[in-house]
Amino acid sequence: MLLKKIVIAVDGYSSCGKSTLAKDLASVLAYIYIDSGAMYRAVTLYFINNKVKFHDKDELQNALNNISIEFKNSIDGKCSTYLNGKDVEAEIRQMEVSSKVSEVAAISEVRRKLVQEQRKMGAEKGIVMDGRDIGTVVFPNAEIKLFLTADEDIRVDRRFDELKSKGEEITRDEVKENLKHRDYIDSTREDSPLMKAKDAITLNNSKLDRKEQLNEALKIIKTYVHQ
Ligand code: DC
Repeated sequence: MLLKKIVIAVDGYSSCGKSTLAKDLASVLAYIYIDSGAMYRAVTLYFINNKVKFHDKDELQNALNNISIEFKNSIDGKCSTYLNGKDVEAEIRQMEVSSKVSEVAAISEVRRKLVQEQRKMGAEKGIVMDGRDIGTVVFPNAEIKLFLTADEDIRVDRRFDELKSKGEEITRDEVKENLKHRDYIDSTREDSPLMKAKDAITLNNSKLDRKEQLNEALKIIKTYVHQ
């Protein structure tokens, strides 16, 4: 559909379906998909596993220098997040990481490192990246910026079902608290808070299924292509 390679930024609150949409768009357009949240999760996992006292600037910098994050296809053919050569895709989705990731993502040194890597990944364009600051900070010149929203109850149900299906022992209330807590920290932090870019287009997917949300996004992209 697209002749010229562009950058597509997908931002929004937790569990709005950003990664589903971004993956679907990348697949239809034969673009690279990057889950920037997975990178913040991988850093958080490293901090937990290595008991990094990240309030100490030297310890923080030293830890960041030792972290390498990649996205590769795992044995089952799915794209996985690798932390220092190890597939950590399942671990970074667990509640222990979810409960600490917003605090880690608020640290400016962490953001500086990851934003630099994200910009490198998008240098050739032909990329769909989802996150919180993609349209505002990482790629302020992205050709398409989507801001996804969905009703809170729907988001909680989606995340609860996802975690349950992975066998996580968790209640719906715990999921709801975690989402609210993360949204609060993500949107009130000083460095690159979650906000809608001025030129982003809002897509509320509360009443849309996966295919419908993809079609809505493709309609927006087609409008840009035909400008
Ligand atoms: O998309 P996610 O829920 O996996 O993201 C995990 C956390 O990382 C989220 O609470 C906020 C943070 N994050 C961020 O600050 N900036 C991004 N570009 C992506 C994620």
